[in-house]
Amino acid sequence: MRIEGSTVLVTGANRGIGRAFVSAFLARGARRVHAAARNPAALEPVVAEAPDRVVPLALDLTDPATVEAAAEAASDVTLLVNNAGTHGMGHLLDMDLGVVEDVMRTNYLGTLRVLRAFAPVLERNGGGAVANVISIGAFAGTPSLGGYPASKAALHLMTQAVRADLAPRGIAVHAVFPGPVDTDMFDYAVRCEPALGEFPRTSAAEVAAAVVDGLEAGEEDIFPDAFAAEIGREWRADPKALERRLMHI
Ligand SMILES: NC(=O)c1ccc[n+]([C@@H]2O[C@H](COP(=O)([O-])OP(=O)(O)OC[C@H]3O[C@@H](n4cnc5c(N)ncnc54)[C@H](OP(=O)(O)O)[C@@H]3O)[C@@H](O)[C@H]2O)c1
Repeated sequence: MRIEGSTVLVTGANRGIGRAFVSAFLARGARRVHAAARNPAALEPVVAEAPDRVVPLALDLTDPATVEAAAEAASDVTLLVNNAGTHGMGHLLDMDLGVVEDVMRTNYLGTLRVLRAFAPVLERNGGGAVANVISIGAFAGTPSLGGYPASKAALHLMTQAVRADLAPRGIAVHAVFPGPVDTDMFDYAVRCEPALGEFPRTSAAEVAAAVVDGLEAGEEDIFPDAFAAEIGREWRADPKALERRLMHI
């Protein structure tokens, strides 16, 4: 996919990787970036980066009315970046089940809701692409990460299923598997489980730039940092060994 001249929508664009995505797409010549957040007031500094090209948009993945309104407002989108996501650390057998439900509702069902709303938009605009930000967390059931690995594994399998359904409609579907990224989300995870601190982090800007490279190169599965690429190789070679490597975390 060629980014220059494209119209992009990024969910969760107010901070972290989403905010870095907005800068990366602007730098690569996107015509317009719809920056979506559940609190549009938080987008002020993002819009300030390029007020003539960044359009703020209200969108909460778990609120169908905002998703439908966003799909109507951003009717020119040719690249949908499903970046927004949430985390709730804990062990599945004793943590608050409501937190597990929230993670699944957001990362899996919420992302699917956005995709369902925007697939017709992309199709009307002549096809285009979708990038689903998953995680290397999808490759093993790491005990301290609560419902997050399952939510991302579900998103991975959903990504494969919709890839097949959307190909005939001219829409390419990319899966993005970052390793640890220096954002609020990873800070929170390390605060809850210090053992995660042993893994190398990549900056959000580097990850966003690598994803844009992967999209332009037409890579179906994008591993945007060195640690993610290493875990991806391990997962392909020996998923059981990866499960054992992560079982102490
Ligand atoms: N950081 C990592 O190590 C890492 C690694 C692999 C994958 N990822 C994935 O990368 C994506 C971005 O993560 P990040 O590290 O940038 O996290 P972050 O700093 O915590 O930012 C998460 C973003 O998602 C938004 N969001 C959460 N729930 C939402 C909802 N219901 N509707 C709309 N927006 C919602 C947040 O909005 P608010 O500001 O309103 O909360 C925020 O903009 C996520 O999908 C995450 O799972 C992160």
